[in-house]
Amino acid sequence: MIPSRRDFVQLSILAGGAVGLGLARRAQADKPGTAKASKPLKILVLGGTGLIGPPMVEYAIARGHEVTLFNRGKTNTHLFPDLEKLEGDRNDDLSALQAEVDAGRLWDAVIDNTASIPRWVTESTALLAEAADFYLYTSSISAYADTLTPSADETAPLGQISPEDEAEVLTTKDITGENYGPLKARCEEEARKAFSDRCCVVRPGLIIGPGDYSDRFTYWPVRIYKGGEVMAPGNPTDPVQFIDCRDLGEWYIRLVENGTTGDFNGVGPRSPMSIAGMLHGIRATVDNEISFTWVEADFLEQHEVQAWMHMTVWVPLVDEYAGFSTSSIDRALAAGLTFRPLADTSVATVEYWNSLPEERRAKPKAGCPPELEAQVLEAWHARNK
Ligand SMILES: NC(=O)c1ccc[n+]([C@@H]2O[C@H](COP(=O)([O-])OP(=O)(O)OC[C@H]3O[C@@H](n4cnc5c(N)ncnc54)[C@H](OP(=O)(O)O)[C@@H]3O)[C@@H](O)[C@H]2O)c1
Repeated sequence: MIPSRRDFVQLSILAGGAVGLGLARRAQADKPGTAKASKPLKILVLGGTGLIGPPMVEYAIARGHEVTLFNRGKTNTHLFPDLEKLEGDRNDDLSALQAEVDAGRLWDAVIDNTASIPRWVTESTALLAEAADFYLYTSSISAYADTLTPSADETAPLGQISPEDEAEVLTTKDITGENYGPLKARCEEEARKAFSDRCCVVRPGLIIGPGDYSDRFTYWPVRIYKGGEVMAPGNPTDPVQFIDCRDLGEWYIRLVENGTTGDFNGVGPRSPMSIAGMLHGIRATVDNEISFTWVEADFLEQHEVQAWMHMTVWVPLVDEYAGFSTSSIDRALAAGLTFRPLADTSVATVEYWNSLPEERRAKPKAGCPPELEAQVLEAWHARNK
């Protein structure tokens, strides 16, 4: 089943929504082999304990920067016991931040990972515009108005909130598949308004790797490591894009160090990759008995196998998805985005998955349930006899 774009975004939000289940043994994230930065910076991270936050904070510390976190103190509270943590809620309690600003506190940069509600950005930038030199806002590839144009770059049109919906959408606390993209676009606008030429916006695509609580990419290495006949989706040449949370987080710190401003798509890999390239790339990291059976997109749909949430990372190249997973990363490459090999991501993701409690692993949030996979493979073989 191919979800509509709205459903697709909604599924993505739901999958990413339950932040923070047991990172107790976060897959010993690779320690970045870094030298100290030439100038230590004071960096305020709004968030910092979900998926991209931890590797970005670890890298910042390794580079010699001083990091302060602002969050509610709910997610992965065991992380970074030695860091300064300001506790508050961007919904209604910025008092801890306000107190610091009132006391004359200054930061070289703010990294805003948390906001999908424009008011959050309006309020934090109003508070910090004089107290910080630079604002990096984490948007999303979903901020674009559509996924129709292959290889679209950062100049593609962004989603808009229609004038008649403004009042309702801008006061909402409910992020849905319909409003997520336009809200992210509006958040960007708020950040730019306050920080103008001191602002950087990164639009990540699917973020993957150790610590990913959505289980989307994770499904594939875990399934492939199990071995046997693996159902693979659609046309092997369909494109995929994703970014390892460690590559993204480390790049953020380099953007901050360089004071890089402007808008950037934050996806990978460096060279275009197909779903077959991804599956075989993962397969190459394990030695087991395994085969892939490619099942046509229409057949999957008829058998209620969903693109993206069952057959994760993948969406068939049709109609409204003609430009999906083909975003241009020329600007990001020029601004220093680098990539780990897929093999590294794959192995680290499985290590992370295996570190989770058994009860958590028994309830994956995405991927094709084994019974459904077996049933569809049987039907596919019967049809092709
Ligand atoms: N996952 C994806 O594939 C994907 C793709 C594109 C874009 N994005 C964007 O990436 C960003 C999230 O990345 P991440 O989770 O990896 O970031 P992160 O900085 O690692 O974690 C999110 C942080 O937000 C804090 N937080 C949540 N609600 C809060 C609130 N009401 N007030 C204050 N702090 C709050 C959480 O801590 P507490 O819970 O303790 O408050 C946590 O530290 C989002 O902006 C999302 O739209 C994600």
